Amino acid sequence: MELLKGKLIADSVKKRIKEKIEEKVSSGLRAPHLAAILVGEDGASLTYVGNKEKACSQVGIKSTVLRFPDTITEDSLIEEIKKLNGNPEIDGFIVQMPLPPHIDEQKIIDAIDPCKDVDGFNPVNLGNMVIGRPTFLPATPFGIMTLLKEYNIETSGKNCVIIGRSNIVGKPLSIMLSAKSYPGDCTVTLCHSHTGNVGLYTKNADIVVAALGVPHFLKADMVKDGAVVIDVGITRIPGEGGSYKLAGDVDFENVAPKCSFISPVPGGVGPMTIVSLLENTYKAAYGENI
Ligand code: GUN
Repeated sequence: MELLKGKLIADSVKKRIKEKIEEKVSSGLRAPHLAAILVGEDGASLTYVGNKEKACSQVGIKSTVLRFPDTITEDSLIEEIKKLNGNPEIDGFIVQMPLPPHIDEQKIIDAIDPCKDVDGFNPVNLGNMVIGRPTFLPATPFGIMTLLKEYNIETSGKNCVIIGRSNIVGKPLSIMLSAKSYPGDCTVTLCHSHTGNVGLYTKNADIVVAALGVPHFLKADMVKDGAVVIDVGITRIPGEGGSYKLAGDVDFENVAPKCSFISPVPGGVGPMTIVSLLENTYKAAYGENI
């Protein structure tokens, strides 16, 4: 069993981004600038946005966080997005999800200029991704693809089962892994809450991606020997004194011994998501991939 060390790969990608930005800046261009809109006080969102800011500063990307109370109206939020769309100082921005229930998340995503949509959530970018055009790829699936590539994992003709059909992870990843490319050329099955017996599918899978947000859902008897297992889950389990532990969607202790490769939580997919956002921001600023 080999660990898919997302933290390690992310650090090496960050080093490359930092060097490339230094080159650009010394040639007279300005540093990329990423903005993040954060609504309310959700603990996980505060942590994610904080981690994104920290990663930006590590590679020389300027970052700005715009915070609003969770009472902000949908119309006011759309106005803020329009300001960012028209601000030439901002290369790309994200609206941290989830948003309060009175705000229609899709309406917000629709308002983001596709050229600045470094999350790759706007339907224009998702559509381009579906037909295989260059675009901003959603950060978590993009990070998973990079992880597979960096570890030279064979994907062509493999049975891949993804558990979870979110617009952010499961759905876009199912498209990417079934695309005619590397990583890709998989036969993809997308399981979800209405799949009767998920184990029936995962037991035959060469690659399993668990992205449903249920701690320790994937058990050892659901995985075949030699499988590649990717854990996207990051549920916060409250501990003592306000502390918390992160739990993945995979019963790591029992599943890991059966795997050829497995990603840990933390230190697997999480750091890859953040570094993919940095890659998208670089692309938004300079119009080229790193
Ligand atoms: N919430 C959970 N994941 C993400 C993400 O990748 N981007 C944004 N904007 N919000 C999220």
